[in-house]
Amino acid sequence: MLDETMLKRHGKDHFLEYSKVMSRSEKEQLVSDVNRLDLDEIEALYKDVYENRKPIEIADDIEQVAFDVKSQFTQDELKSYRSLGLKAIKDGKFAVLLMAGGQGTRLGHKGPKGTFSFNDKSLFERQAEQLRDLVNEVGTPIHWYIMTSDVNHKDTLSFFLEHNYFDYDKNYIHFFKQDHIVSLTTEGKLILDTDKRIMRTPNGNGGVFKSLDKTNSLSEMKDNGVEYLFLNNIDNALVKVLDPEFVGYTVEQNSDVTTKSIKAYDDEKVGRLVSLEGKKRVLEYSELSPEDVNKLDNANIGIHVFKLDFLIEAASKPLPYHLAIKKLKQLDEDFSVVEVESLKFELFYFDIFKYANTFATLQVDRNKEFSPLKNKEGQDSIETAQKDLENNQLL
Ligand code: UTP
Repeated sequence: MLDETMLKRHGKDHFLEYSKVMSRSEKEQLVSDVNRLDLDEIEALYKDVYENRKPIEIADDIEQVAFDVKSQFTQDELKSYRSLGLKAIKDGKFAVLLMAGGQGTRLGHKGPKGTFSFNDKSLFERQAEQLRDLVNEVGTPIHWYIMTSDVNHKDTLSFFLEHNYFDYDKNYIHFFKQDHIVSLTTEGKLILDTDKRIMRTPNGNGGVFKSLDKTNSLSEMKDNGVEYLFLNNIDNALVKVLDPEFVGYTVEQNSDVTTKSIKAYDDEKVGRLVSLEGKKRVLEYSELSPEDVNKLDNANIGIHVFKLDFLIEAASKPLPYHLAIKKLKQLDEDFSVVEVESLKFELFYFDIFKYANTFATLQVDRNKEFSPLKNKEGQDSIETAQKDLENNQLL
């Protein structure tokens, strides 16, 4: 039975009406879903992240993060980074983590984003292929961790199975699911998804660290002799997965976090890598003053290496939730499917940077390494990714 008093107290009694027209099993499912929720916590989150949110404070006192520029290295330096990198990979010191748990709402592709193909080759295959080539080159297997979420876990697994894991040794592929959190209407109400379940969505890519910890993946890496974790997104069509030159640079820098960046265009809406009161952060375009935004032009592209010991220590530390307002498919009072702007609560992986004591950055050529696939059309779209792949002879 739904606890009417409790639901009313939390302003969630709209479910009482819904439940009147549900079948017995649907009602039972709803009751069990509701009973598992911490409504006080959800209310606090709504108030904190949405209702009482403050206007974005424009940060001052910010400095650019120090960075090296890859194009300024000599051929000999690059060669030596590459051989240092290949040796570390051969010695099994690096594992790779692909964050592929997102919903890809903007792209609107049916299925996980990694199944999106250019010239019949999916983004998953493009990344698997690079790792397979590396394994063949160094002769040592590389553990590949792939983060999915409830929205795409099953489809991701079937896609890999159907494609025979892209000839990558499946014993070295580790799929794990990130956590989820309820989405709410703008009035703070719980939502019913199209399966008549309470809607929960992936809790943002910053869920990665806790989920790695919870699934014992960090200790498993440690036991396997891994010392560094390379992390990247699914949707950068030009990503160089475990790029040996960057790996060599990382080993030499020996920092808690080593990151790739690009030089942002004027007014480009990409997060900037900055240092604020000595702590490294990624600040969004909107969080910077118009003067700073173009002065601080070292931008984050979601390619990083974390020292495993740093992650083991930092994984349990708190990260803040951010608000995302996105159009989500859901059921209305008549159980019709509608798409409505709703509140999603997301953790961002880069908020962990503030716990790092040492941080190194290598700025790379965006034309060779960065082409995000976010939208159907326009900027960062299918068309731009296609062009960038062509320009790099990757099609
Ligand atoms: P985005 O923030 O661009 O989100 O993800 P998205 O879900 O792919 O797309 P939109 O915003 O709904 O259109 C950047 C990277 O973080 C991963 C994505 O899979 C992508 O590699 N991600 C995002 C997760 O792994 N989990 C999440 O909860 C969110």
